[in-house]
Amino acid sequence: MESRIVASLDLTDKEKLLALSETIGKQVFAIKINWPTILSAGKSIIGELSSYSKVICDFKLADIPNTIKLIAKQIADQDPYAIICHPFVGSDSLKELVSTGIRTIGVVAMSNDGASEHLNKHWKELLSDVKGAGAYGIIAAGNNYTLLKEISSQKEHLKVFSPGVGAQGGSAAESIKNGSDYIIVGRAIYDSADPVSEIKKINSEIQ
Ligand code: XMP
Repeated sequence: MESRIVASLDLTDKEKLLALSETIGKQVFAIKINWPTILSAGKSIIGELSSYSKVICDFKLADIPNTIKLIAKQIADQDPYAIICHPFVGSDSLKELVSTGIRTIGVVAMSNDGASEHLNKHWKELLSDVKGAGAYGIIAAGNNYTLLKEISSQKEHLKVFSPGVGAQGGSAAESIKNGSDYIIVGRAIYDSADPVSEIKKINSEIQ
């Protein structure tokens, strides 16, 4: 059975990142990297990690269509599996990213407390725009089960990726029960003394 874990390896030590990716790559659905890793290791890390797993680039892009296109072009040769963007900038930017052919995941609800001040209040409009743009998936927080359930019930074809599990308090089992297709787990895996056991534990918790 395919794993439903996306390992968020927010590491800045390249050797450690490559070693951990080689160890766990086949046991997770994908590896997600974020700016700390890109800024320390450079964009070629996307291609290097692709030999171990699918790679999701958590860039949270929020810009005009032309800049989004320029960024996507910079990583197209690195074989990224998907890229995360912020749909709040508008459907023109979102559609531009989708048109590059890289699977696009739009942030609809975030996991940090402050997200309830603005972003999460607009999840319905954001979800509707992501659907309309022909994107691949959405980000919906895995530590806010009520909201996750509501969002998931309206997801249609979109894959639901949920951060906020582990270090931010969410439970893998509850997140899946409330509609996540995949859970995103960072520190609980890469800070663990035994990441392989941690992944096995999460996989069995999900089942
Ligand atoms: P931890 O260590 O908290 O790492 O498991 C989570 C990873 O996911 C990112 N993150 C988010 N990304 N929407 C996103 O698109 C969110 O609501 C969200 N919350 C956390 C975080 O930057 C880290 O890479």
